[in-house]
Amino acid sequence: MLLHPALLRRWAMQLGQFVSRAWEIGPPEVLVRRIDVAEIALGGSVAIGPAFVAALTSGEHETWQSLTASASRQHEWLLGRLALKDVVRAWASERGQTLEPSDIEIHIDDEGAPFARCAALSGVGGSPVISLSHNSGVVVAAAADPGALIGIDIEYADRKIDVVARALSETEQAFVDAEAASVLDILVAKEAATKALGVGLGGGVSRWPVVSVTPLPQGVMVDVTSTTDLGLVLPVLVLHPLDTVLGICYIAPDIDAA
Ligand SMILES: CC(C)(COP(=O)(O)OP(=O)(O)OC[C@H]1O[C@@H](n2cnc3c(N)ncnc32)[C@H](O)[C@@H]1OP(=O)(O)O)[C@@H](O)C(=O)NCCC(=O)NCCS
Repeated sequence: MLLHPALLRRWAMQLGQFVSRAWEIGPPEVLVRRIDVAEIALGGSVAIGPAFVAALTSGEHETWQSLTASASRQHEWLLGRLALKDVVRAWASERGQTLEPSDIEIHIDDEGAPFARCAALSGVGGSPVISLSHNSGVVVAAAADPGALIGIDIEYADRKIDVVARALSETEQAFVDAEAASVLDILVAKEAATKALGVGLGGGVSRWPVVSVTPLPQGVMVDVTSTTDLGLVLPVLVLHPLDTVLGICYIAPDIDAA
């Protein structure tokens, strides 16, 4: 008998397994997990069963219920929480801690940036820093050690980005003309960089100029800067897995500041 992947995933979740899969991509200091929405969709829409909802804390459950005005946003939000909890659990597991999804509470700060709270992680230096991105088919979550900066962004490669193309600086246009980076590479880099800072892009494409693009065997390294914080450089690894563009901005913890 063939079992639908959605049922298998739900049972796996009931057994404390992961709903996402590990994605070996990007810098080694960054853990990345992904949920492929089609794999947990039944009849075209995600079947949100009791096991999924049981992964939430009571506070998260309240938020989930408050999102009923938009079923698609409710699903997106839930998958994001599951992916973030999974990546925190995977990070904890590497440090010898076994956690259930409901042991971890995902919050957002005033700017919308997600962060994790988990009392059980106080013994290993606290919760990892986390970042999240979703499009209609994929949800990606990243985690790195406390004190690091992490930002992740994923877009379909065929995303329409005329607005961004019109807002490129001369330097950025030169990178595009030379085919060093695509317009979408530049947008994804800016999204990942601003998420790492916890501010988000929020339409301010030209406030975050790209100043250099370095080819790498696996993609490109894009340096994003700020028009208001001169001297700030946010390196973003931009990769092209399958039909997507993925940006990961990682800055190691400042050990002098610790
Ligand atoms: C808010 C923003 C982070 C959204 O990014 P996005 O690429 O549209 O969407 P993604 O799915 O990749 O990321 C959304 C997640 O980012 C996270 N996020 C939101 N605000 C954040 C912030 N200030 N810092 C870090 N992460 C943030 C959240 O976890 C959010 O998911 P959630 O709401 O389910 O929790 C921000 O970059 C933005 O406003 N982008 C869209 C507008 C824009 O500037 N477009 C440019 C082309 S015109």
